[in-house]
Amino acid sequence: MIAAGLASALMLTGCADKGPAAVDSQRMRNADAEPGQWMSYSRTWDEQRFSPLTQINDGNAHELGLAWYADLNTYRGVQATPLFIDGVLYNVSVFNVVTAYDARDGKVLWTYDPKVASEWARLACCGPSSRGIAAWKGKIYIGALDGRLIAVDAKTGEEVWSVQTFDRKYPYSITGAPRVYDGKVVIGNGGADYGVRGFVSAYDAETGEKVWRFYTVPGDPSKGPDGEASDSVMPMAAETWNGEWWKYGGGGTAWDSFAYDPELNLVYIGTGNGSPTVQHFRSPGGGDNLFLCSIIAVDADTGEYAWHYQMVPEEQWDFTCTQPIVLADLEIEGRTRQVLMQAPKNGFFYVIDRKTGELISAETYVPNLWASHIDLETGRPVVNPDAYLTEKPFLMTPTWLAAHSWHPMAYSPLTGLVYFPAQEQWLVMARVKDEDFKFVPHRSNSGFAFTGHDELRRELQEIGNSREKGYLLAWDPVKQQEAFRVDYPYPGSGGVLATAGNILVQGTINKTLAVYRADDGQKLWEMDTQTVAIAGPMTFEHEGEQYIAANFGWGGSPVHGLTAGPEPVRFGPGRLMVFKLGAKGVSLPPMPPPSALPPPPPLRAGEDVVRKGQKLYGETCSRCHGEEARGGLKDLRFMTPETRAQFKEIVLDGIRKEQGMAGFADILTEEDAEAIHAYLIARAHEDWQDATFTQ
Ligand code: HEC
Repeated sequence: MIAAGLASALMLTGCADKGPAAVDSQRMRNADAEPGQWMSYSRTWDEQRFSPLTQINDGNAHELGLAWYADLNTYRGVQATPLFIDGVLYNVSVFNVVTAYDARDGKVLWTYDPKVASEWARLACCGPSSRGIAAWKGKIYIGALDGRLIAVDAKTGEEVWSVQTFDRKYPYSITGAPRVYDGKVVIGNGGADYGVRGFVSAYDAETGEKVWRFYTVPGDPSKGPDGEASDSVMPMAAETWNGEWWKYGGGGTAWDSFAYDPELNLVYIGTGNGSPTVQHFRSPGGGDNLFLCSIIAVDADTGEYAWHYQMVPEEQWDFTCTQPIVLADLEIEGRTRQVLMQAPKNGFFYVIDRKTGELISAETYVPNLWASHIDLETGRPVVNPDAYLTEKPFLMTPTWLAAHSWHPMAYSPLTGLVYFPAQEQWLVMARVKDEDFKFVPHRSNSGFAFTGHDELRRELQEIGNSREKGYLLAWDPVKQQEAFRVDYPYPGSGGVLATAGNILVQGTINKTLAVYRADDGQKLWEMDTQTVAIAGPMTFEHEGEQYIAANFGWGGSPVHGLTAGPEPVRFGPGRLMVFKLGAKGVSLPPMPPPSALPPPPPLRAGEDVVRKGQKLYGETCSRCHGEEARGGLKDLRFMTPETRAQFKEIVLDGIRKEQGMAGFADILTEEDAEAIHAYLIARAHEDWQDATFTQ
């Protein structure tokens, strides 16, 4: 008796004697017995992002203050959720630089820089961000942008092993957080926008040896099976494809979400869009194109297929189903159901039986022109006939900008509600003419048209822009309806944390961190943070005190439309900030004053050149710099004369690659760069009246 009591007491004190990051199956399976820890991306394997901690609660959240902060040395989006294990906060910034901090005061214990070549920034649509790291038995795992999976010693930050997870010949990248499930590190990748074939791999956490791999779309049938876990279902998937998709990769990359049910021994994988996006070019003649935009359940030990559910058959809208997957047990019609929930880009909220893959319910959470409803009998969407891509532009919502993207979603078992940032963003959509589709390796190859019918485009986009909205949505997954919302002036707020203290924590597009009551959305506290925490906030307890921590740093999709507001948007530098009750005396340095910009230079180029620039801009730059050059990571309507003078060096030679802007000399000529610049000058003149030119 006494021995057993001692053993469990030791376990509860956090296994300090085992050294740092001593995370194992025992601790993860009993994570609620150590509510002060945050040992995996979303705290628990079910990815609920719910903390049982109650010291900070709806009665005292107004006493929160900044305890400490650390500069992250970037102006790029910082998307990571830190981990907290036994007194140490582990964090990852852009280009996968990992730092371990003493959680009490932010003292740096070690930093590890995997030295990712800055050219890789070109292959990450939304900046060289990382969404997180994983921990297991004394090691921290990094999924580096360039495809390395790296294990470092949690005590010293020294590299233990490193494996290359994809062939660097192809434009893959890793931005998602690795997860460790009972000793196996699961990691995906992105790149469907550029032309790759998606897959997920599991590696032995101890040795770095590959355990299994699952391809998410079929490869070249003439090459035969891959010799991987997915072989058993690739023939079934291939039946749903046409044409020569493998030449473009096919896509379906699993670039963000995973979840794990240790009882069912299943790993859930969310897959992405097609490559190229427009199905007409990828799989002429149609077909469901399995497993694009699906959830696939595989055996955790072998990677063998268990079931799949495809949200978006015939994917052609750049919809991804890589959005957070949350597992919970819900009371539905008098039965307890083991479910999986997801709110993907297409605007529907799905509740699925996670044992079988059966669709339980699905309702749209935003205005939806894509599908009228999901047929519960067949599990298939009833797609609006007007939503299929044509050469003629039409106004669409939701779009690839996403009704909800990777931004962490939380579920509170206490309120029974799911919380996530939702948005209504309308875009003009069309595909290019057949003769204009050209697959260019290492460039975004959507097949979308960015020019043509210019008058109509302009008109439609103006309507779309005027309807843009963003809000924190509290959704009842059982009733499949909105419980409440917190409105924001535009899209772009961050991920959500829910706690047993009846609070929600979210970084807002107003450049604040806000705390709301979890049951009704009433605002309890808000602090100016100079920039947005798009990342998910987390919470932990150390030496009897509860803290809230979040990474701040604007960037990543959606980065559009922010100039629609009355003020030009400026963001502070990336920072990790840590808050607690009663903290005083720490404040952020003031923002430098805005520098006025002179008006754009006169437009000297002819209309043909501007139009050429518009097309090249759409194909090559819009993913990062915004459709129609609005908003974006860096708004190119607003450039200093110095930047304009260096335009070609920046765009072709990559002189700003360290900041995330790699050069394009391999696919653009000087003349192309000049045409793009001309288009940007034209856009600046068009919007000159509407915007104050400050940066
Ligand atoms: C993968 C994302 C990405 C793509 C694609 C991209 N850029 Fe950039 N670009 C960036 C980032 C990040 C910065 C900010 C660098 C900094 O902070 O100085 C930037 C900065 C710039 C700047 C400097 C702007 C200023 O005011 O300082 C110019 C000019 C520019 N980009 C042009 C282009 C053009 C033209 C294209 C298309 C040919 C393009 N970029 C494509 C990410 C991208």
